[in-house]
Amino acid sequence: MPTTSTSTIQRQANASVANLTDYDAALLNFSWHAAADELLDTFADGSLNITYNCIDRHAEGDRADKTALIFEQSNGEHEQYTFRDLKKLTNQFSNVLADLSVKKGDRVFVFLPTIPERYIAFLGILKLGAVAGTMFAAFQEDALLDRLGDSEASVIVTSPELYPRIKNIQDKLPALNQIIIVGRGQYVIPAGKGIISYNDAMDAASESFEPAHMQNDEYSYMLYTSGTTGKPKGIVHAHYDILQAMVTTKYVLDLRDSDIYWCTADIGWVTGVVYGTLGVWGLGGTNVIYEGRFSPENWYDVLEKHHVSVWYSAPTAIRMLMASATNPKSYDLHNLRHLASVGEPLNPEAIWWGLDVFGLAFHDTWWQTELGAIAVTNLPALDIKPGSMGKPLPGIEVAILDDAGNVLPDGEQGNLALRASTVSSLMKTVWGNPVKFDSYFKGEWYISGDSAVRDSDGYYWFIGRTDDLINTSGERVGPFEVESALVEHPAVVEAGVIGKPDKLRGEIIKAFVVLQDGIEPDEDMKHTLQQHVKHHLAGHAYPREIDFIDHLPKTRSGKIMRRVLKAQELGLPTGDTSTLESY
Ligand code: PRX
Repeated sequence: MPTTSTSTIQRQANASVANLTDYDAALLNFSWHAAADELLDTFADGSLNITYNCIDRHAEGDRADKTALIFEQSNGEHEQYTFRDLKKLTNQFSNVLADLSVKKGDRVFVFLPTIPERYIAFLGILKLGAVAGTMFAAFQEDALLDRLGDSEASVIVTSPELYPRIKNIQDKLPALNQIIIVGRGQYVIPAGKGIISYNDAMDAASESFEPAHMQNDEYSYMLYTSGTTGKPKGIVHAHYDILQAMVTTKYVLDLRDSDIYWCTADIGWVTGVVYGTLGVWGLGGTNVIYEGRFSPENWYDVLEKHHVSVWYSAPTAIRMLMASATNPKSYDLHNLRHLASVGEPLNPEAIWWGLDVFGLAFHDTWWQTELGAIAVTNLPALDIKPGSMGKPLPGIEVAILDDAGNVLPDGEQGNLALRASTVSSLMKTVWGNPVKFDSYFKGEWYISGDSAVRDSDGYYWFIGRTDDLINTSGERVGPFEVESALVEHPAVVEAGVIGKPDKLRGEIIKAFVVLQDGIEPDEDMKHTLQQHVKHHLAGHAYPREIDFIDHLPKTRSGKIMRRVLKAQELGLPTGDTSTLESY
């Protein structure tokens, strides 16, 4: 197995979670129907609504005055919202949208920094039955145009600081007719086409709203995610997908009513949507959100100040904490009870470090935007094999397949696949692209694009991607998007982009660039191109390394052979190059 460690870590002593104490029994007994009966509230007609399940039912019951949201601001102050507060605010926001004639199925996007209004808007959109899209605040004009254009969003919720990026592309977005601006503190609502002040509209809106009755497979949220070819694709989820979010928040993240929970992911990405919003509030939990930037001191302060007990984070952040001189033992973190990680391989050293400094092991969880919730994981009830992703969530059937779709025996590396019908929260469609949607499936199997191996104890071990997708600091970046941003610069003829292994970030983005004749291939040019990508595509998606080369390896049909670039970079054999035009 691909691991540096031989010892296992015994399951948590306090892993007393209901029916998953015994993994093997849970495998036999688990049923999605029973889970739905236990965790979901439906309306009398059998329909449901995510926001009703996350907010209204708690506000109408015993949890009305329980703190739902703790907002830790970057200036060290904080705000708290109860479930009752969030019911009122999401009702008002749904009414704001209804007054703008937004209807069920319309796409409404949220492009805000991490402030409570980001969550209120998101949940208000779902309450009305519109499709909620979220976008990372670091996105620049190219990334915004791709998403808003493809989805034909009619409304966007943004801030005075982020609005100029929308203004610059508004002419290319004929469907976008309303821009709701959320101001906090001192702010000025900018003048412009279709502008509405969030605060004014909320003040004028009624505090009551009847949540839309949604069928199980009616759309809820959409997230654009990178593939290896072409522009990002809109992965669309349904209202019923909250069920798997709740099941996994309960049984994998082990969330209990008394916990204070912090998922460090931004809601521009799927982890922030599913585990920073749906799962925790579906269960009526207290959720911390943090506006400030990452630093070990800032994060330990948040954990200490708010008595966080369940913490869901990511390997790059954990490695940065490990590398820092700041000692977590100098903080009072005794409330921490359960730790989990997602997004990239969790190296065994990170687990050993967690055990040393927190007395707790990080539990790895594996899933994808398309899957909508955790699918392979280290349940609290399982012993951990450091370096392994764990076992399938009870209810989900996982296998390793060869390229022809045959199930491979234990110990053999292949395609990590899931029986589609067993993944309750699997995406419902790819927006406007049924061909792409179909391409994920081989018969009854959903093919993840990851390669993995299963050991004889049934534990899965991640090997890598089977394609060119880049995972940098847990964020998924398509090489094509970065190449497109680079070739937009007048100095560039063409570019090939790969993920280069990196100890801290998992991978970094590396670009190979062919410059126009006469352009100096110097450090200034590298800096110029990095800034260009940061300002046109996104702050996180720029190439940290650039090499200037004379020509790119390509197939005869002109496709850039990224695997050859990668092999050359890593000093590995380049494999079959017979179809290459030049290399
Ligand atoms: O390659 C796998 C990696 O992240 C990909 C999914 O990315 P995304 O859709 O952005 O979702 C990230 C958060 C769910 C996967 O195909 N990945 C995710 N979790 C792990 C992982 N790789 C190794 N170990 C994990 N635990």
